[in-house]
Amino acid sequence: MARLIVFSFENMIYRTVLLFFVVYSGVSSFSPFFGGHHAHHHGFMHHRGPHFHRPNPEIDSNEDTLQLVHVLFRHGHRNPDAVSLYPKGPYYNESFYPEGYGQLTNEGKMTEYTLGTELRKRYDKFLGDTWNINYLEARSSDYNRTKMSLQLMLAALYPPKGSQIWSQLPWQPIPFNYVPTSQDKELFPFDACINKYEALMKEITQRPDISKYFNNRYGETFDILTERAERKMDIVQAFFLYVGFYIQEELGYSLEDWTKSVYPEPLHSAAVDMYYIMTNNTEIKSIISGYLLKKILSDTKAKIDNQIQPSQRKMFIYSGHELNVATMLLSLNAYKLSDVPPYGSYILFELHLINGVHGIKLFYQNYKNEEPIQLKLPGCDSFCPFQEFYKLVDEILPKSDEDCYENIA
Ligand SMILES: *[C@@H]1O[C@H](CO)[C@@H](O)[C@H](O)[C@H]1NC(C)=O
Ligand SMILES: *[C@@H]1O[C@H](CO)[C@@H](O)[C@H](O)[C@H]1NC(C)=O
Ligand SMILES: *[C@@H]1O[C@H](CO)[C@@H](O)[C@H](O)[C@H]1NC(C)=O
Repeated sequence: MARLIVFSFENMIYRTVLLFFVVYSGVSSFSPFFGGHHAHHHGFMHHRGPHFHRPNPEIDSNEDTLQLVHVLFRHGHRNPDAVSLYPKGPYYNESFYPEGYGQLTNEGKMTEYTLGTELRKRYDKFLGDTWNINYLEARSSDYNRTKMSLQLMLAALYPPKGSQIWSQLPWQPIPFNYVPTSQDKELFPFDACINKYEALMKEITQRPDISKYFNNRYGETFDILTERAERKMDIVQAFFLYVGFYIQEELGYSLEDWTKSVYPEPLHSAAVDMYYIMTNNTEIKSIISGYLLKKILSDTKAKIDNQIQPSQRKMFIYSGHELNVATMLLSLNAYKLSDVPPYGSYILFELHLINGVHGIKLFYQNYKNEEPIQLKLPGCDSFCPFQEFYKLVDEILPKSDEDCYENIA
């Protein structure tokens, strides 16, 4: 059974001590992505981890023009949850997952801590040595794994320095917030806007071109899965099972023989196709990514207009899911996704002031390269003046909150 997580201060310190023990105990070749029992027999998610000690003057240099950063990232490695498994599977029982269904694993903790070190390195000067309450807005989705991921990322972003050293621990608490998923239009529209979202998904999947494509490509796969998992498959259910198979392999739990006919392909392609379905037209984009994008742009505008509150704000941090990362990339039409965004992947929206012009630079870190890759909105340069950026995405910005809550079923 799942161990009860006692959320006490002592427990937190204990965990932090453990974490730093792992970091500093000379496990120098440790990489969150290569370590342990990774299966990775299929190359499509093979990725390099962030790097610990490599200085990179190139990425530091643009700190001079940097005004504000928004970070959207995915949580770390995790256990499967019940919906990503099937009752007759050999590893269905929660007792196979010591932290409990859906929870962050130790490997996941390291991934997120390392993500924080990578961002600390990239924004070292910009962030400064000492933490201040006004610098960050840190927000998580209402999931344990994203909250824990955020705590780990923050631990590495602002380790205590100088006057803020308060104990032997190279850690200080940093607050973050979340709202219940049912109200979280920005990070969990899949629940907050559920009626609208499901109606739009239905409309898209029932379109003749899409349903024909799905039947041809995945019909047989869905039939096999429906029978084995004993529940009706659709693209979303198939996606969940893909995640479950992937994680079981990661954890070293071998898959049943029958899965070979569906996994990794074509299930992997179906999982990626789901992101394209979820962003298949302007209206669904505005529900799925629009509220977060609207917030990002409105905070950016406030900064440009010198109206941002508090005025010292440096960074907005959003701890979410691969769904958030994938749908944002596709909604912006900035990246042709062919994989599930890996654990710890992130998108950066950087506001720069260059020669008197405020503009946005967009980056995506999927660990295929050492550094985040720079993205472009179609129709704009890689440094995209704010007004132009806004004009290009305006059509996917929701006009009101009603768009989310409206019941069009
Ligand atoms: C899961 O395993 C536990 C302990 O091994 C057992 O008590 C429980 O009945 C199992 N649950 C199911 C649904 O098989
Ligand atoms: C989060 O953890 C709590 C226990 O602290 C548990 O009741 C809840 O189901 C978990 N939620 C998720 C989404 O993991
Ligand atoms: C809609 O989904 C289909 C199937 O995944 C995909 O081929 C197509 O490119 C998508 N269209 C858009 C605009 O995303």
